[in-house]
Amino acid sequence: MIEKKIKLKNNILSNRIIISPMCQYSSINGSPTNWHYRHLSNLILSGASMLIIESTAVSKRGRITHNDLGLYNKIQERDFSKLIKFLKSIRNIPICLQISHSGRKGSSNLPWINYGNPLKKNKWKTISSSNLKRDIDWPEPKKANINEIKKIIYQFENTADRAIRVGFDGIEIHMAHGYLIHQFLSPICNNRNDEYGGSVKKRCRLSLEVTKNIKKKLSKNKILGIRLTGSDHLDKGISIKDSIFLAKKLKKLGVDYICVSSGGIIKKTNLNINKDAFRVSMTNKIKKNLKNVLVGTTGRLENLKKLNKNISSKKLDLAFIGRPFLKNSNWLYESLDKNYIPKQYEKAFDKKVK
Ligand SMILES: Cc1cc2nc3c(=O)[nH]c(=O)nc-3n(C[C@H](O)[C@H](O)[C@H](O)COP(=O)(O)O)c2cc1C
Repeated sequence: MIEKKIKLKNNILSNRIIISPMCQYSSINGSPTNWHYRHLSNLILSGASMLIIESTAVSKRGRITHNDLGLYNKIQERDFSKLIKFLKSIRNIPICLQISHSGRKGSSNLPWINYGNPLKKNKWKTISSSNLKRDIDWPEPKKANINEIKKIIYQFENTADRAIRVGFDGIEIHMAHGYLIHQFLSPICNNRNDEYGGSVKKRCRLSLEVTKNIKKKLSKNKILGIRLTGSDHLDKGISIKDSIFLAKKLKKLGVDYICVSSGGIIKKTNLNINKDAFRVSMTNKIKKNLKNVLVGTTGRLENLKKLNKNISSKKLDLAFIGRPFLKNSNWLYESLDKNYIPKQYEKAFDKKVK
């Protein structure tokens, strides 16, 4: 079942495994570096049917660290264009770009320096839905005014335009993991009482405006995906009911897939990430309320027997897998029936082509 093809826009995905976006914090001035060529050329050869490139900032202020990818100027556009041509020349599968604004998560150290805590030097003032801090020892963000919100909506559109120009097959909008759009969606962080805060409808407004604007400009064959927050895993946070409300609206706007993630609005929540396939039951609840849109999830899905069952029983359509590909980007070669081994490597494997 994992190997059952599925149509996504004009593309036929050869299986249900997608490479989940994974920040590398290895860019220079937002542009991809040699590290990205090395890292992504491994991933594109892995056998997964689609690749989502890591969270990429829509503005300088919207980065998490100084080394995040960004796509908001011409130089970055030139550098992304080279990267995409290179990747497509190795293996032609759909490649989407995850676009994001970090909001109050920004101005941080690299995760391997001082645990990714806020920068002390070369820092910048972050922006969010409210002036609530991420944690006690984090700086207070600026509460975005209406003009700033309009500007952010434009920045998402601008980055999406650039991504399509450089050759991406689609866009994934990041609405999870405590990034800015999530900071508007979650009552834990959004205490506004204007049209962008309060009721679930108002908290969803930014995400819907961003989506609508991008969708309007995408040509018919380009993919539009969403990384959704299924739950905040906190009392008073986003509930599954809220996320179903948003998912239905996103579907109406014409998104092509929804990947359900969760947690991350503050550092510690009640999410337990150690269980196999830990977001599948939540995803199934959301999927049952949606028709004609592909629904997937992410988080410990590498037990392929289990994944097969979950896909055959229609609990999900797509599996967004991350860490197993960092450990061994070739792990699917001997796990899937179809042969994804590059011809140049076949002699190293006993597996016969079926
Ligand atoms: C190194 C690393 C970087 C990540 N960066 C991103 C990111 O840029 N955007 C995102 O939505 N999730 C990000 N994630 C989360 C993954 O996409 C994935 O959802 C998560 O690791 C759970 O899937 P897994 O159990 O298959 O790894 C990252 C995870 C890792 C390990």
